[in-house]
Order: sequence, then structure tokens, then C-alpha cells
Amino acid sequence: MTIKPANRISEVKEYYFSKKLREIDEMRQQGIDIINLGIGNPDRSPSDAVLEELTFSAANKGNHGYQSYVGIPELRNAFSEWYKKYFQIELNPANEILPLMGSKEGIMHISMAFLNKGDQVLVPNPGYPTYASVSNLVEADMVTYDLKEDLNWQPDFEELEKLDLSKVKLMWVNYPNMPTGANATLELFEKLVAFGKKHEILICNDNPYSFILNDNPLSIFRVDGAKDIAIELNSLSKSHNMAGWRVGMVGANPTFTQYILRVKSNMDSGMFKPLQLAAVKALALEKDWYEEVNKEYLERRELVWEIMDTLKCKYDKNQSGMFIWAKIPDSIDSAIDLSDKILNKAHVFITPGTIFGKQGDRYIRISLCSKQEVLKESINRINNA
Ligand SMILES: Cc1ncc(COP(=O)(O)O)c(C=O)c1O
Repeated sequence: MTIKPANRISEVKEYYFSKKLREIDEMRQQGIDIINLGIGNPDRSPSDAVLEELTFSAANKGNHGYQSYVGIPELRNAFSEWYKKYFQIELNPANEILPLMGSKEGIMHISMAFLNKGDQVLVPNPGYPTYASVSNLVEADMVTYDLKEDLNWQPDFEELEKLDLSKVKLMWVNYPNMPTGANATLELFEKLVAFGKKHEILICNDNPYSFILNDNPLSIFRVDGAKDIAIELNSLSKSHNMAGWRVGMVGANPTFTQYILRVKSNMDSGMFKPLQLAAVKALALEKDWYEEVNKEYLERRELVWEIMDTLKCKYDKNQSGMFIWAKIPDSIDSAIDLSDKILNKAHVFITPGTIFGKQGDRYIRISLCSKQEVLKESINRINNA
């Protein structure tokens, strides 16, 4: 007897990193010491105040039950205050903020809430692979749109206007952009909101990188009337070194929030209360927290630039977020080729841009989530290889 999986997963490949990490594990089991510069997993600690609150609240015997699907009011208030302070945006904590277990789950919830089978979704190329895999999981039809270096990795609105957009229901955007590091501008958000309104397309901005190597966090809600057509995801994973905690949020108008809640409340329950209380502390951190986080990333960035220079890759020095994205030399066949060569010869793993879409074929991406000694060791290994 064979039990077959659902058709919806036949289109979804195993997440690239889980496959690659297994390969790296196998090499490690053979005794090979591999440095992984691929994944954007912040290696530094959350603030002491956050850790103390978690421990303190976890010791409270009354804090271990199910929690509300919409998060505790203190957390929704803290997100609202955070948006006010750092993005100059008013989001009503009663009905415009929904805490999530990271922004990644929000991509699924939003897709489940808004897309019917056969609806079209605009997905950036290159882009975070989850937009594509979730679109497949919900059996929507994916239409990729190119981000190009000569447009500073922004959508080409002229090209988009040439498409038949009548079946497009939703567009994924992500600024500051991963993997390219391109930053958001108010002008770009204005164009996106206007595009969404003109064609009745829900614009979803995935915004987890606005505090990393970026002096001016920007929300799509800065555009007048954006709440009518846009949704924004945010997260504490990168900004507060809390990736393993799974704390994020979606901001949306009360109607959209209710649609998303209808999905979420049927899929998971509220987050562990001590996590929520500690997240409240994280959201109340002052500017010096973000400055301290960025001070280290600035130093690491210099070393990553050195790796890119060693590999003769070209990059823009104004990138935001926790990766450096660089173009490989013309003499190299492909990014996968270069990545495999570096893995096999120098035992350093660097992400090939190909995994983010065809537009990433001639690019590689290095994460800033390794300590400076590790980056220096990578430079030595690559030089020696
Ligand atoms: C563009 C983008 N969106 C979302 C996520 C998921 O982040 P979270 O930890 O908030 O789920 C990532 C993580 O790598 C990302 O790069």
C-alpha cells in the first residue's frame, strides 16, 4: 500500500537550506570543518532586560496556560508604540496589529486568507523563497516579476503594466530587500500603493530588516491611504536577535486583520506568555540598542567586503539588512559553480543567488551572522584555496 502526499506539496521542493545543511552535516561527520556563511541567523544575544523578563515570567506558575489568539494587550500596545516611535505610524493596538510567530508564518496566513486556487500572485525574482513555496501550497498561480540591478532592485512598473493583471490578487514586496540589500524609499512605496489601488492588488510588504544597517526605518504605511490596500509584516528575529523566539506581527486595517485572524486562530494558539512579556521589553528598547547591534554588523561588513574582493565579486556598499549581495565575475560559469567550488576547496559555504530566482543566477550572498574571527578564517581559507 502506498499513501501518496497531497498534490499541493508535489510542487514544493524541500527548503534549499534544509537540504544544504544536511549536506554540510554529512561533510562535518566525515571530519571536515565547514564554515557556514549562508544563513541569516543572528548569533548575538537579545538584550539582558529581555532575557531577565523571560526567566522571571517563566518562573511564575500562573503563566503557562493557553493565551489569547490575538496576543496579550501589552504586546499589541508595545508593537503599536514601536511603530509610532520608529516608523511614525499609528496602528490601533485593538484591531490593526496581530502578533505572529515570526513573519514567515504570516506569509502563509495572508496567502490562506486572501488567495483562492487559481488566483495570481506577484512574486519577486530574486526574492525570499517562501513567497513562491507558500503560493504553491495554497495552489495560487505564481507570476514572477524581475528585480533588476539597474533599477536598484525595484519593480519595473512599466513592465508590470504590460501584464494582464486582471487575475492578480496579491503582490509580495520586501524592502529593505532580501537578498539584494536594496533599501526602501517613500517614492517606491507610493508607486506600490498607487499600483495596488489602480489594479485592486493587495500589496504585502515583508519588512523584517528595517533596523539592520539602515538609519531610516520605513513602513509602507507612511504612504497616505496605504492601509486601504497594503499589509505589512514585521519581526523581532533580526532587529532584536530573537530569531528562535518566533515573535513577529502583521499590521493591517481592521477588516484585513480579521481575515488573517480567521486563518491563524484555526492553525495555532497564542504564544507562550513569558515570550510575549519579554517581547514587550524588547520593543521598548531605546535607540542605543539598535546602534550597538549595528556597530558589530558594520565591522563584520568590512570583512565580508574583503571576502567579496578576494572572490573578485562586485557589490554596492549601501546595502541594508544582514547580508551582502554581490555579482560574480564574468569568467565564472554560475553562482552555484562558485558556491560549490568554495565549499569543496575552502570548506566555506556561501549562498548562490540562484536559489532566490533566475535573476540571482550571477550573484552570491554572504550573511553577516558570523563572528569576526570566523570571517577572518574564511578569508584565509579562500585565499589559500
Ligand atoms: C525576507 C524575509 N522574510 C521573512 C523572513 C522570516 O523571518 P521570521 O523569523 O520573522 O519568520 C526572513 C528570514 O530569513 C526573510 O529573509
